[in-house]
Amino acid sequence: MDNFSHKISTKALFVYTICLLSLSPIIKAQPNFLFMDCPNATLTNTSTYAPNSTYQTNLNTLLSVLSANSNNSNGFYNFTAGSSPPDVAYGFFLCRGDFSTADCQDCVVSASKSVVERCPGSKQVTIWYDPYCMIRYSNESIFSTPYVGFRRILRNPQNVTNATLFREVLGEVL
Ligand SMILES: *[C@@H]1O[C@H](CO)[C@@H](O)[C@H](O)[C@H]1NC(C)=O
Ligand SMILES: *[C@@H]1O[C@H](CO)[C@@H](O)[C@H](O)[C@H]1NC(C)=O
Ligand SMILES: *[C@@H]1O[C@H](CO)[C@@H](O)[C@H](O)[C@H]1NC(C)=O
Ligand SMILES: *[C@@H]1O[C@H](CO)[C@@H](O)[C@H](O)[C@H]1NC(C)=O
Ligand SMILES: *[C@@H]1O[C@H](CO)[C@@H](O)[C@H](O)[C@H]1NC(C)=O
Ligand SMILES: *[C@@H]1O[C@H](CO)[C@@H](O)[C@H](O)[C@H]1NC(C)=O
Ligand SMILES: *[C@@H]1O[C@H](CO)[C@@H](O)[C@H](O)[C@H]1NC(C)=O
Ligand SMILES: *[C@@H]1O[C@H](CO)[C@@H](O)[C@H](O)[C@H]1NC(C)=O
Repeated sequence: MDNFSHKISTKALFVYTICLLSLSPIIKAQPNFLFMDCPNATLTNTSTYAPNSTYQTNLNTLLSVLSANSNNSNGFYNFTAGSSPPDVAYGFFLCRGDFSTADCQDCVVSASKSVVERCPGSKQVTIWYDPYCMIRYSNESIFSTPYVGFRRILRNPQNVTNATLFREVLGEVL
């Protein structure tokens, strides 16, 4: 029981710490792997690429171009590697707007290195790192198309200080 509650409180502290870090762009946090949409290729056998295939080569190119452009001050960059279907690799990165370009770059560089290790062989992957960035790639064009993969809601448990102002700003954004 003690061990159990210790785990709970450690986890609560961790979550709380992450929230504080998310609210404080001044404090530099390491990007942590959060979750990914990695179709289970072994089970479905529908979306895998073979080692040394043209798709893999294009994917490697795509990921290095995303890395190289992770200093893009917009926090977003898309690229298409290859020109002959079905081996074209489409992809982009997106960073959180309230962090610096340097944080975005750190995140995209490390994410583009680790994504293939975390989801080997899959042609269509979306991966999120907390708190900075996400990377998505596919063998089908994914630009300006809605994401219909799995959904997660990331809650910020803090209360707003001025609910009236918050609703005004939220209204504008939406
Ligand atoms: C895919 O499914 C297999 C068999 O159920 C499982 O062992 C493996 O961990 C799964 N991989 C992922 C990435 O979910
Ligand atoms: C996956 O499909 C390919 C061709 O469609 C086939 O050659 C291969 O054996 C399949 N792999 C598995 C694990 O079912
Ligand atoms: C992308 O890959 C999936 C799974 O291998 C396949 O079903 C689909 O037809 C491919 N799309 C294109 C445009 O080649
Ligand atoms: C892929 O290419 C590398 C380097 O050319 C080679 O060492 C490796 O055996 C190849 N793998 C497969 C599965 O063909
Ligand atoms: C990003 O870095 C590359 C290479 O280091 C450089 O050529 C490019 O000008 C940089 N772009 C921005 C927006 O800083
Ligand atoms: C980036 O996305 C836009 C909008 O969908 C698209 O028109 C453009 O071709 C893409 N750029 C690359 C390099 O893939
Ligand atoms: C937010 O406000 C509610 C209602 O006033 C309060 O019960 C709750 O403890 C507050 N949460 C935080 C994280 O301050
Ligand atoms: C909250 O924001 C509204 C709208 O901007 C403003 O009128 C009001 O004075 C603010 N209240 C406080 C307590 O700051």
